[in-house]
Amino acid sequence: MSSDRPAGVSSDSGVADKLLALEKENTRLRSELDRITRERIEYLQNVSHQLVAPLNAIKWHIENLTAGRISVDRAKKVLRSIYSQSTIAVHLTKNFALMSNLDADHALTALREPLQPINLHQLLVNLVDDFQPLGWDKGLKMAVDDGPLTKAPEVLAMKPLLSQAFSNIIENAVKYANRDSNITIDGYYQKADDAVVINIINKGIPLTTNDIAKIFERGYRTVEAKNLYPAGTGFGLFIAKRIVDIHEGKINAFTNDVGRTVFQIVLSVRGLEGKTRQRATKDDSPYRR
Ligand SMILES: Nc1ncnc2c1ncn2[C@@H]1O[C@H](COP(=O)(O)OP(=O)(O)O)[C@@H](O)[C@H]1O
Ligand SMILES: [Mg+2]
Repeated sequence: MSSDRPAGVSSDSGVADKLLALEKENTRLRSELDRITRERIEYLQNVSHQLVAPLNAIKWHIENLTAGRISVDRAKKVLRSIYSQSTIAVHLTKNFALMSNLDADHALTALREPLQPINLHQLLVNLVDDFQPLGWDKGLKMAVDDGPLTKAPEVLAMKPLLSQAFSNIIENAVKYANRDSNITIDGYYQKADDAVVINIINKGIPLTTNDIAKIFERGYRTVEAKNLYPAGTGFGLFIAKRIVDIHEGKINAFTNDVGRTVFQIVLSVRGLEGKTRQRATKDDSPYRR
């Protein structure tokens, strides 16, 4: 049979082999597509599940307030809780918007934000004001040190993004801190590399060297964190690292000599000068307030 086939045409068994290979590739692609679809569905379920929790809490509090079921004394506490739950809802929404944005266009997306000089001390004081109420139930005290950081130069950066990176780390510090402990934020200017160093420090569930190697990966959560907060996403630090990378900065975690967990971010003062891209439209950023 093979003797009378035209030159350049493979034998039946050659064709069969090719068909088999194509079919295998087809099966592989289908199962890859199934996996991606499953992941997307799980992701969306996770997103809605996480958002529904604070929104339901807010709704429930408002129902109780309007139905007059709450004493004047308790009303203040309930309003504080509404504020905290809204902070969580806004924070989660910004993270989810960032995730789809980073997925869609990788690192370059974020460079559409305009660069502006940022006073990091002020930015952190504002964020602590926002997140402080989340820690009240746990008896946490949170403060930005008013030492050397107040004298550090402004850093040229994309404010909504940087703000989200710090929010993610501060939110973790609140979540994973021991009850009745302190969260401290400090920093200083490092002349050698014209950069500002920020430390966000808490005392809480420990991080092993193995954890530290993995916590910036998308979705990675330690066993202790999963036990404490089963509904976490493992996106916060992944996003924070992407944002710091986009700013050509550094982000690290370590345990200091008194057993406290430190998240350290180093940002160059003028590192991104001249590197930003123009946004397509004025309001196309999903993560500004
Ligand atoms: N301050 C912290 N103390 C201890 N562990 C932390 C701290 N911040 C982050 N982690 C660990 O890093 C993991 C990833 O954090 P993150 O990406 O923000 O996800 P999530 O908070 O949703 O779990 C957490 O699940 C936790 O195991
Ligand atoms: Mg987190």
